[in-house]
Amino acid sequence: MASDIKNPSVTLNNGVTIPQLGLGVFQTKSGKETSDAVREALLAGYRHIDTARIYNNEESVGEGLRESGLKRRDVFITTKLWNDDVRSGIAKDACYASLDRLGTDYIDLYLIHWPADGWEKAWEAMAELYAEGRVRAIGVSNFQPHHLDTLLTISDTKPAVDQIESSPQFANAQVVDYAKSKGIDVEAYSPLGGTGGSLLRNPVLAAIAERYGKSPAQVVIRWHLQRGLIVIPKSTHAERIRQNFDVFDFQLSDNDIQAINALDTGQRTGADPDNFDF
Ligand code: A2P
Repeated sequence: MASDIKNPSVTLNNGVTIPQLGLGVFQTKSGKETSDAVREALLAGYRHIDTARIYNNEESVGEGLRESGLKRRDVFITTKLWNDDVRSGIAKDACYASLDRLGTDYIDLYLIHWPADGWEKAWEAMAELYAEGRVRAIGVSNFQPHHLDTLLTISDTKPAVDQIESSPQFANAQVVDYAKSKGIDVEAYSPLGGTGGSLLRNPVLAAIAERYGKSPAQVVIRWHLQRGLIVIPKSTHAERIRQNFDVFDFQLSDNDIQAINALDTGQRTGADPDNFDF
């Protein structure tokens, strides 16, 4: 998976490369909705799909991959260990079950989805899965700096990524900067402000988008890419899936980056990693 200007990739701290722009399938229904979205994305040029056990659509991700006709090795697949499986200490079995559902014999990136009680033990199991070669890279999601600190203290295995909520309305800059300072790449979820959000109707984004002849979504995706984040916008519409990948032919100016940075409200749209009840 070589990096190219139309589909750049990031080299993670263990040497594995990940396409910087992927398709997210949070809240994409299992069955045709997911397999169609995955197939359309792969046909449009995406080579990175981000799912999770809890999205209940891993089988359909596997189906979409097979429908695309692409080889398994040409697509980067992320999935995540769910909280119940962290708490009950069955990380390895949960990973094998995800592999079965995806219909693949390895996962490119496996993440602890939330810092649920027992995540420290789960991390040991993740390291074993990595050593066994069932996963090419391991990481975390929704980890705050204090979780990362604990992890780096108790384990010699550094997470390749921390996947966190990040968008112009909640840049989450402190966590981004902290993770990067530790050599951990950051992946932005809800990068467009999430389902049902109002970010894409923001007039500042609309004005910037008009100047570039692009959509607000494309401008936001470009903002993430230029910040050096890995970004996984979600859409179930083929036209938007294609549009969200058509972001490699323009560059936001520093002024426009600053204007987008100024939209930060400090309000997250998703759950708080220090206070969640699921
Ligand atoms: P849909 O799936 O109906 O296309 P996020 O990636 O931040 O979670 O945001 C996902 C939301 O943004 C979904 O509601 C999705 O709707 C919408 N969305 C994705 N791409 C675009 C786009 N290019 N233009 C407008 N809305 C979009």
